Formats: sequence, structure tokens, C-alpha cells
Amino acid sequence: MGVYTVQLPKRIVFGDVVEEKIGAEAKGLGAEKAFIVTDGTIEKAGLLKKVEKPLKEVVEVDIFDNVESEPTLEVAETIVKAARAARYDLVVGVGGGSVLDMAKVAAAAASNPEQGASDFLGANKIVNPSVPTILIPTTAGTGAEATPFALIIVEGKKKAIASPYNLADVVLISPSFTATMPPEVTASTGMDALSHAIEAFISLGANPLTDSFALEAIRKIADNLEEAVSHGDNLDARLKMSIAAMLAGMAFGNAGVIAGHAAAHTFGARYKIPHGVAAALALPYMMEYNAKEPAVKERLAKVAREMGEDVSRLTEEEAASKAISRVKNLLEALKLPTRLADLDVPAGDLPDLAEALVKEKGYLARNPRKIEQKDAEEIIARMWNGE
Ligand SMILES: [Fe+2]
Repeated sequence: MGVYTVQLPKRIVFGDVVEEKIGAEAKGLGAEKAFIVTDGTIEKAGLLKKVEKPLKEVVEVDIFDNVESEPTLEVAETIVKAARAARYDLVVGVGGGSVLDMAKVAAAAASNPEQGASDFLGANKIVNPSVPTILIPTTAGTGAEATPFALIIVEGKKKAIASPYNLADVVLISPSFTATMPPEVTASTGMDALSHAIEAFISLGANPLTDSFALEAIRKIADNLEEAVSHGDNLDARLKMSIAAMLAGMAFGNAGVIAGHAAAHTFGARYKIPHGVAAALALPYMMEYNAKEPAVKERLAKVAREMGEDVSRLTEEEAASKAISRVKNLLEALKLPTRLADLDVPAGDLPDLAEALVKEKGYLARNPRKIEQKDAEEIIARMWNGE
């Protein structure tokens, strides 16, 4: 037994039309002037209005509605500047992972006038505690509402701002907010959440508490993702997917993600593949590679059981294979790409991708099976061929 630390958001409010509670939550945080961070799609979907109106009844509100998906350092610097236009004492993020990450950056900027976005990059670089945040996810996938990370593209590579100050003061989860997602986005973001849960569960950084979060997330996703994709208006399935994505965020926010996300980051940023699609594609290959480790085999057998497979008569090896084939079947049922060749990744780029994967040292340090250059070449070739 070891000693473990787990850090989580302070307060989670979820259920029917919880957006109407935002005024009370803002008051509870003692706010007077709020800065809403969002993007154009949220405004068009009519979600911004639902937050802005009750918030304006209690505090002054300014809005930044121009967050780009997969934000670069330049985008982050623009948000840093905007967050200092007035003395904001509350930042509200309404959107997908990119928006919530930029809300974290805005909250850090508001209380750290000496630091720019680039100064925040790395671990524990934010000097003063951020101003309070209320994060409202509109996808069920990234888990950004529950993690201490904000991801930014720097020179074509995904870099993290990791700080406990990034953890939300309040998370508001309204199932009707994720119901505006089209089926393909529900599918890819849901599989991103599954990859967070499975990677966190077999990560070397896992602990008994993150395991509980991860296994419950896996079970909920296996039970509800297909329903949320095929019947987007099923708010019960939507809420369960939101809870699963948040639990997966709580798992990987503490245990970390591993080689699957390392690979997804290398080809996701380069070919502008949506993060969920990239992470979902990488997932079964990452499981297969790590399953050679006995401890991982045992864990994957548990994943299979959590996904509803009857593993009582199977060996550990067979049960672990079941988990992998179940994930592959899910990808196919959701019509998500299963090989890089189908995403027009040129075969000539594979050596570069393998080299980039080996350089993702932070992720690979937590990966249970070591990945050398030749292993990376083999993994990337498999992802390309679909073997
Ligand atoms: Fe992810």
C-alpha cells in the first residue's frame, strides 16, 4: 500500500435545468463581475443565452465568444488579455474541452497580471490562485470540467498547463446542454471519455480511488454511449454519459493518460483530426500493446467485466482480449475510423510519427509497458494498417 493524493473540483451541481442555478452559484462564490468564455457554436445553439440571462440577474457580465477548437498559444494569449480588461472575480466556461481549458487560462490570467499564457505552461507554474470558476460542459468526453489541466497547441504540439488552481470551484452539468451535440460528436467525444477511463485504469499512476472512478465510467459508457448517439434526446442517457465523462476526468486528472493519448496527440495535431476521433482510434492498439504485461492483462479482464462481458469461464488472457474486441466493435458500431490509412495519413509520414511518439516522455513514463523506437514504429504501423 502506498500514499495517494487525489484532487477534484470543489462542487458539482447536476440534473434538470441546473443552468438556472448559476446565479445562486455565482453569489455563493461572492462574485460581482463575471467573464464568460465560450464559442460561436454555443451561442448559435442557444446555450449561451440560458447561462447569461440568470447570471446577469446577480452580477455584471462580459463575454468572450470566440474560442477556437484546439487553441494555440496565440489564442490563449488573446484570452489572457481579454480576461484583464476588467477586474473579473468569476470566470464561467460554457463549451467543450477547448473552451473549458481557455476558461481556466482566463481565470489564472485574472489573478496573475505578471504572467502570460506561456508562463503558465508546465506543472505548477501559475503563481497566485486563479479567480473562481464555474465550468459547464456541452460535450460528454474531454472531462476538462474535472481535471487540473489546460491543453494548448505550441508549435504544433499539445502542451499542458497543469495546476491545482485549474480545478473548478463549481461544475454545472445539465443533460440538455449535451443534447445539442450531433451524433458523430457524441460518438467521438464519448469514446474519448472511454479512452481516458481505460488509460487511467492501466496507468502506472492509478490508485484505488482513481480505479473506482475509471471502472464506473467504463460501465456507464458501455451502457449508455450507443443510446446517446442513436437517441440524442434521451436525457437519461445524456446525463449518464456526462457523469461518466466527468468520472473519467477525475480518474485521468489524477492517474494520467498514457500511450494512447501520446499517439493521438502526435497525429491529431498534425492532421487536424478531432481529438476524440484520434484518441478513440488509438485506444484498442494501446490496449493490445500493453496487454503483454501480466498486470495489465488482469486489469483489462476487469474492463471486459465492467463492459458487461461474461468472463466467468474465461482465462485472464481471453477476458483481456474480450475487452479489446469489445472496444473495436464499439468503434465500428459508432462508425468511427479504426485505421490511420482511412484518415489520409500518408504512409511516408509513419517514421516521423513513431519518432514523435517516443518523444512524448511524460505520457510514456506512466505507460505500463516500455516503448522504444522500434516498438513505436510497430504501434504506428499497426494503427495505420488496422491490424
Ligand atoms: Fe482525451
